[in-house]
Amino acid sequence: MDHFIYRDGQLYAEDVPLAEIAAQVGTPFYCYSTATLTRHFRLFDEALDGVDHLVCYAVKAASNVAILKTLAEMGAGMDVVSGGEYARAKAAGVPGERIVFSGVGKTREEIAQVLAGGVRQFNVESEPEMAAISAVATEMGVVAPITVRVNPDVDAKTHAKIATGKSENKFGIPITRAREVYAEAAALPGLKVVGIDVHIGSQLTELEPFRLAYEKVAELTEQLRADGHEISRLDLGGGLGIPYARSNEAPPLPTEYGQLIKDTVGHLGCEIEIEPGRLVAGNAGILVSEVIYVKSGEGRDFLILDAAMNDLIRPAMYDAYHDIIPLVEPEAGAEQTPYDIVGPVCESGDTFAKERMMPKVEAGDLVAFRSAGAYGAVMASEYNTRPLIPEVLVHGHQFAVIRARPTFDEMINRDTIPEWL
Ligand code: LLP
Repeated sequence: MDHFIYRDGQLYAEDVPLAEIAAQVGTPFYCYSTATLTRHFRLFDEALDGVDHLVCYAVKAASNVAILKTLAEMGAGMDVVSGGEYARAKAAGVPGERIVFSGVGKTREEIAQVLAGGVRQFNVESEPEMAAISAVATEMGVVAPITVRVNPDVDAKTHAKIATGKSENKFGIPITRAREVYAEAAALPGLKVVGIDVHIGSQLTELEPFRLAYEKVAELTEQLRADGHEISRLDLGGGLGIPYARSNEAPPLPTEYGQLIKDTVGHLGCEIEIEPGRLVAGNAGILVSEVIYVKSGEGRDFLILDAAMNDLIRPAMYDAYHDIIPLVEPEAGAEQTPYDIVGPVCESGDTFAKERMMPKVEAGDLVAFRSAGAYGAVMASEYNTRPLIPEVLVHGHQFAVIRARPTFDEMINRDTIPEWL
């Protein structure tokens, strides 16, 4: 459920007509709904009611500081994967003890940065990284809390580019080697083992892979405890999927996911962390774009939009499906027509949809890509020297630009000309 709905024939974000934002901000732009963001965060928080837990929002999904602050004010923790994301979480007012640091390639600089600023735990992904954290922490005279991310060799049954829990993926330490690695961790100075971490992939539409992974983690918890390690915290990652298409497929609900967590690891008395990104932000954001031209091709009509693959890469990168709807509500039973929906970037990959059936639109009409809140703005680039598009946050009747569109000068002035030119 989200708060982008037609009212009086127009698409609204909460209580604001999107056409009004478009008139003020210009297109294309991303628009987020506070009510949807907070609702989705709360769903996870409530799903773990009765268990000591912290929902650590995966910052990578949508990292605007205004979004992070909205969630931080509800008590969210944050899952970050770079020094930059850590700085964003801090800028949003999240205390270090609510930030977990994940990722396979943490540099020594990043390790020092978060040790200085405070961190809940490092989710360690390899032995060399563990050694680096130990060395930096010892040098700084502090103790780094760590979990080891285990790779349970479970098929997440999602797109290959976003599956992370199989042994061929670069993530984590094979679960079969976990006891050995925990023994090494216990022997290293500057580290304190606090738990276990697992994350098997993104956009999971079934619970079964989670069940398999969490059962393995539960078993490992008992083995590690028997080996003398203090396992008081389980970070179970993110990954719960969202419905992108108006199809019958409905991914499991956060309540069902919460129940699964309680069933598989609830008996261990551990504090539970989860790292949802997409389900919090995905349906809380849309991308609004204007039709520049309707071009008749051979046997097909192209809808040429002012948004392009550099603004929303998911269709080009993962063949992802996003609903595309007009801002003016189509009449009931309006004629549908197939369009190839494309952007202005100079490559054929800049295609959002092929033969997409939708009501007839004309140049100058506005359309919205639904479910674009997660992995949308954060994956944008300036390819073709197209400015990063603005982000707008709606809250009831109010809206605010939370990232402005840069001018051409602002973009170009980041380049510097060497003295020999
Ligand atoms: N925790 C870790 C360690 C992760 O790597 C990820 C996502 C998450 C949490 C959050 O997963 P979520 O709840 O959002 O599924 N760009 C791709 C998605 C990449 C996901 C990467 N890791 C896309 O547009 O589909």
